[in-house]
Amino acid sequence: MTPISIGVLTVSDRAAQGLYEDLGGPAVRAAAEGYGWKVICESIVPDDRKQIQQAVSGMVQSGCHLILTTGGTGISRRDVTPEAIREIAIRELPGFGEAMRMESRKLTPNAILSRSLAAVVDRALVICLPGKPSGAVECLGFVAAAVPHAIEVLREIPANC
Ligand code: MTE
Repeated sequence: MTPISIGVLTVSDRAAQGLYEDLGGPAVRAAAEGYGWKVICESIVPDDRKQIQQAVSGMVQSGCHLILTTGGTGISRRDVTPEAIREIAIRELPGFGEAMRMESRKLTPNAILSRSLAAVVDRALVICLPGKPSGAVECLGFVAAAVPHAIEVLREIPANC
């Protein structure tokens, strides 16, 4: 089995404008590499539905089995990552969001504000993590054990499905 190829997408207006150093993307990248996954795509986009969707679709086309987004899962007006992903997803995997919130609430009561989720886009798994670097890494840690099997199942789907 070839290694899991992944994309890391930072979703942040300020990071996309260069007003703010992207800390989330590098933190997620380091965590992903720690799980033995190979980062083949990295990008930063503003909190804009279309740009999020284009970036994720581009990563899928580039061969990413897993796409990790960080940011835009909260409750402010500009937080649209869940809506953007749901619009292009075949299906959502609610257990990921449930586990991330349940485990994160043991660390911070604010975790309930995150709309973190996972969904299937084409044959890729997309996991939307919170924007705070430590929160993103923590959330990834709560679901990482399920990733290899999910990727394995998604790779087996025939191309015409
Ligand atoms: N989850 C974990 N594990 N640790 C955290 O520090 N921060 C929360 C939450 N989830 C946090 C967390 C906070 S403060 C917010 S506002 C939401 O994630 C949404 O973050 P986002 O809008 O940057 O994606």
